[in-house]
Amino acid sequence: MNKNFYITTPIYYPSAKPHMGHAYSSIIADLFARFKKIQGFNVYFLTGTDEHGQKIQRSAEKKGMDPLSFCDEISKTFKDLSKILNLSNNDFIRTTEKRHEKSVQHLWNILENKKEIYLSKYSGWYSVSDEAFYSDDEIEEIDNKKIAKNSGSAVEWVEEESYFFKLSNWQDKLLKFYSENESFILPAARKNEVISFVKGGLKDLSVSRKSFSWGIKVPSNNEHVIYVWLDALTNYISALNYPNEKDKLYNDFWPASLHLIGKDILRFHAVYWPAFLLAADIAPPKRIYGHGWILAGDEKMSKSKGNILDPIEIIDKYGLDSLRYYLAKEVSFGNDGSISQEKLESCINSDLANNYGNYCQRVISFSEKNFNLLIPKKDIFSKEDLDLLDRFKINFDILINNMDNQNLNSYMNFIVESLFSANKYFNDQAPWNKKSDIKKVKYYCLCFIRSNKKNFYYAVSDNTFVIIKSIKNFWD
Ligand code: MSP
Repeated sequence: MNKNFYITTPIYYPSAKPHMGHAYSSIIADLFARFKKIQGFNVYFLTGTDEHGQKIQRSAEKKGMDPLSFCDEISKTFKDLSKILNLSNNDFIRTTEKRHEKSVQHLWNILENKKEIYLSKYSGWYSVSDEAFYSDDEIEEIDNKKIAKNSGSAVEWVEEESYFFKLSNWQDKLLKFYSENESFILPAARKNEVISFVKGGLKDLSVSRKSFSWGIKVPSNNEHVIYVWLDALTNYISALNYPNEKDKLYNDFWPASLHLIGKDILRFHAVYWPAFLLAADIAPPKRIYGHGWILAGDEKMSKSKGNILDPIEIIDKYGLDSLRYYLAKEVSFGNDGSISQEKLESCINSDLANNYGNYCQRVISFSEKNFNLLIPKKDIFSKEDLDLLDRFKINFDILINNMDNQNLNSYMNFIVESLFSANKYFNDQAPWNKKSDIKKVKYYCLCFIRSNKKNFYYAVSDNTFVIIKSIKNFWD
């Protein structure tokens, strides 16, 4: 069995400082990375920043800065955030690094040599905010402004010489690839969206720009810079030292196990990226998971809408593990989820303080008082006791399966329900009245929390899994 696991976050645009949507992608990716690590996998976890293109060039111009100094400054805030979020990432890639440029140009040369790329002229709509080309039927006019229907971003008319990737050749091959790799795109609803987009017909894709210069040069024609998405997507292999195919990182970890992304960038990852890779004879990643958006009210949280919750302020106020727990538990994974400070507070109070915190506090102080915190030997259990304990054993493989299929909410719900039943058990047994066998009660209760050294607040970093594992090991 392959024990290597490669997981990535999207690489973020350093056009403005990070917000909760970015923190969300990173925290959830970290959660899966840690889970696999605890399971004994050799995990490689990558994050970083996507620094080229017109969007960044314009943001730098607005600040009166040259693009690289601008990126240096903002990329650092993303790197700092990865530390504040306690991400277990192995690398942080910046697309302005030389190692990345070499990789991108190599991939370009392969595609050009294979005649997958040709020179022509682009005329059509472009959204700088999305860094995406749109066809006529993908845009609409609101208040005299042309915008992209799916994102609401302004589009502008572009006419320029451009290289094209022969995406139209890949329509049938992509459809075949999706049907042979059933869980390539998750969740299932997103897979259907992608399939119907591809079935609707793929046009060749413009993959270079000529009217600005902030990007990686087309090796054979330095009047052009490579389209920022072809540049950005390549980060997933440049960080593994592609094109050095003998490299250990590349060998061990490509194809990636999971690209975790937001649903807004699904088309780039699930259509363009596998097409580029297949065209270059490189294996596509094993899975793309498109999560939903973090909403403020019912709008996407984004810099341009000015409705952002600053993750650093929230962490300062409530602590990192509370935020991690809240995002994992309360946002229905795969769907959009509206978050607020009020909901965060009530989640911390009900699940963490009242449920788990209270439970630990009662069990530990009871145990301290009666047993000097020592765990007694295994006792004889009633059927109810065994049923309760068996819940973990029976569900162990199901829980792993949940996490392997990114069914995060089923996993989280199991943990929280288990905490409720443990609390109830302690109450029902009322060991302080000595109505029941207090050793037995304590045995159960302590084994429930025994590996949870830091406490459950840390849960969605490492410890939910550790709790379950320790209980299972205890029983085996
Ligand atoms: N640079 C591209 C990605 C290139 S990956 C090869 C990009 N950057 S981004 O900074 O605009 O957004 C990156 C990701 O941040 C989104 O895909 C999504 O995962 C996350 N989010 C940004 N805003 C978000 C929300 N409001 N809610 C949840 N996640 C969102 O796109």
